[in-house]
Amino acid sequence: MENVKRFDGKIAIVTGAGSGIGLATATQLIAGGARVVGADMSKDRLTAAAESLGKDFIPIAVDISAHDGPARVAAAASGPYDILINNAGIMDGFVPLTELEDATWEKVLSINATSMMRLTRQVLPGMIKAGHGAIVNLSSEASLRAICAGIAYSVSKHMVNGITKHIAAVYTQDGIRCNAVAPGGVSTNVGGEFLSDLSKERIAPVMSATFRGHMATPQQIADLICFLADDKAASNVNGAIIPCDNGWSVM
Ligand SMILES: NC(=O)c1ccc[n+]([C@@H]2O[C@H](COP(=O)([O-])OP(=O)(O)OC[C@H]3O[C@@H](n4cnc5c(N)ncnc54)[C@H](O)[C@@H]3O)[C@@H](O)[C@H]2O)c1
Repeated sequence: MENVKRFDGKIAIVTGAGSGIGLATATQLIAGGARVVGADMSKDRLTAAAESLGKDFIPIAVDISAHDGPARVAAAASGPYDILINNAGIMDGFVPLTELEDATWEKVLSINATSMMRLTRQVLPGMIKAGHGAIVNLSSEASLRAICAGIAYSVSKHMVNGITKHIAAVYTQDGIRCNAVAPGGVSTNVGGEFLSDLSKERIAPVMSATFRGHMATPQQIADLICFLADDKAASNVNGAIIPCDNGWSVM
């Protein structure tokens, strides 16, 4: 039993696996013994990830918000999948309601929330049939309060929390656990520029007064994601939205 790793024999999907939190999570899952389907829309990032992660990383270049995106991700390996990490997401430039364009709203909600629902709908029946599955969704501090993003991102992450709670409540009796991680600031490529003067004036000062400059590493977020993905360590954790922000949410 000595060399048994916590994810030995498991097969996982990680979306947005080419960068930041997704790449750190795929790295930890593979180090723990899993095979990982890594989905990302950036071919270059996937190529670099595949070179460093080796044969247990199965790259799939795909836009998860495309009509056939979720089906292509699910078909990249033969399931049923044990673990689904719904991680891919984009920011919204901190644009407030009065400056919001429909295209921004539709794109952010489509990638951050609708794609999560559609990919999970694709993967969940296999998990239910197998009698187990661990799903971890990437939420955000912006799902807990209103001062961390623009309206589209904030609403999309509130939707993530709703998706998470629904799955946890309805499918717990099928052996499914679904939890969400709500990071504060993390050093990644997601981009945090303010495209709005109103937000610079009204959001930025509140953020800097409470945030105190603590940027997490992607590995710190991946540590929590992998804890939640571990059926042994987190066997009784289901439907939780867990901040991972060094206390920012209570400031
Ligand atoms: N970085 C932060 O401060 C922070 C804070 C809270 C929550 N989050 C969330 O963490 C998650 C991961 O973000 P990150 O910070 O690692 O960002 P990142 O930009 O470093 O990585 C995200 C990856 O997702 C990919 N991606 C984006 N849209 C895609 C699509 N439609 N189809 C396929 N791939 C797509 C990108 O190519 C990129 O490689 C996101 O859901 C983000 O909202 C990040």
